[in-house]
Amino acid sequence: MTAHNKDSDPPKGKPLWSGRIKGSMSPEMEPLNRSLDVDIRLWPQDVQGSCSWTKALVQAGVLTKVEGEGLVDGLNKVAERIAAADYSGAPDEDIHSLVERLLHEEVGDLAGKLHTGRSRNDQVATDFRLWGIEATNTIKSELRDVQASLLEWAKGSLDIFIPGYTHLQQGQPVRAAHWVLSHFWPLERDQQLLDAVSAHVSVLPLGSGAIAGCPFSIDREFIRKDLGFDSISENSIDAVSDRDWVTELSFAIARIGVHLSRLSEDLVLFGSKEFGFIRLSDGFSTGSSLMPQKRNPDAAELVRGKAGRLVGNLMAILTILKGLPTGYNRDLQEDKENLFDSVDNLLMLLPAVAGTLRTAEFQVDRIETSLDVQILATDLADYLVKAGVPFRKAHEAVATIVRISEDKSVAIDCLELNDFQSVHSSFESDVMDVFSWDRSVEARVAPGGTALASVQSQIQDAEAKLQDL
Ligand code: ARG
Repeated sequence: MTAHNKDSDPPKGKPLWSGRIKGSMSPEMEPLNRSLDVDIRLWPQDVQGSCSWTKALVQAGVLTKVEGEGLVDGLNKVAERIAAADYSGAPDEDIHSLVERLLHEEVGDLAGKLHTGRSRNDQVATDFRLWGIEATNTIKSELRDVQASLLEWAKGSLDIFIPGYTHLQQGQPVRAAHWVLSHFWPLERDQQLLDAVSAHVSVLPLGSGAIAGCPFSIDREFIRKDLGFDSISENSIDAVSDRDWVTELSFAIARIGVHLSRLSEDLVLFGSKEFGFIRLSDGFSTGSSLMPQKRNPDAAELVRGKAGRLVGNLMAILTILKGLPTGYNRDLQEDKENLFDSVDNLLMLLPAVAGTLRTAEFQVDRIETSLDVQILATDLADYLVKAGVPFRKAHEAVATIVRISEDKSVAIDCLELNDFQSVHSSFESDVMDVFSWDRSVEARVAPGGTALASVQSQIQDAEAKLQDL
């Protein structure tokens, strides 16, 4: 059906409010006013929301069944047209104006009935949330893949011991798998955060009108189900200006960015010549245009850099919202670009992180030469504790032994039994058994520790979390 009627066509890009403001828009105002190039991507949601609204208007007796069918047909044709061509440079103010103009081209004056009882205020809030629901789900599944890649890497590195660091100084030996999984759990908390955010995104604003609600007897519960929202908004004034979900999703993304940035920093550090614990694959490294020998961990560095931008986008939306008076304000048009940017960048970096992890390898020889036997000093103190020495005394005795070994320039595991016994009489000949990475690690068998059984049970828990997702 193409009720194309030249006389009744609104001029291209004619604003939806042109009855009130007669003067034409100043050219300096136009680029500031226009949001089409940003919100064009909301066209599927705009069409979907409009189809639901049409059905609700038919049910309320505002539109006849035939009119409703005509509008839905027309909207579907509009969707086909926008899918097939690039409309981002069209003269229309925003996606809602564009869809309405194209609908007019398809169905003529009938198009003018669609906006009955609706405002762009509740319309844009609905479109954006529909988009947000899908974006959150996509992030969850890409994030899951990063978690899966960590889990695979952990399973393959159960038998490698690396130094565990505090203050970036070697602390105590840990299984490499334990370190890998230390980056799994923060992302699992991000998944839980995204679930909580999802519930806040999935609230239907449509039916709130511009500010006061809808004067027609539309069934908002029908619209909720039709569009797949979990609940409907309770207050129309709040509904048209509530962007809390945008702040929450921006925060969740920023925090994922921070977590991945910390992981990336570990990869950069552990991949450096000085550490040499891991080798990142060619596919996620770059060379230098000048220094022929260079092999740079750019994927990890870019992820670390992107985190700054994700945090910045969170600051932007919070700052936009701060100080807005009650109800819808045009400032809210600025809610989309930063969140789009955060989601786009996150969805670009998540697969790169997963790929980097899937192709990274531990360099066992390098790790072995880096492990400093001094990181077994705590185990030496624990040895004395087991002989009945209070921990504080044991700590002091072992600190003395470390000092003696440094004075003699001899590693602590190469000192004589005399040296140990001169410091504390509870040292026996079996003290040498302490100097074993395996023994040290296996002692930490309490849940959450780095012993094999603990890490295996951690792996099982992680697997169960992934299954739940
Ligand atoms: N482009 C606008 C936005 O994104 C749509 C809502 C316009 N509402 C208005 N009252 N001017 O917020």
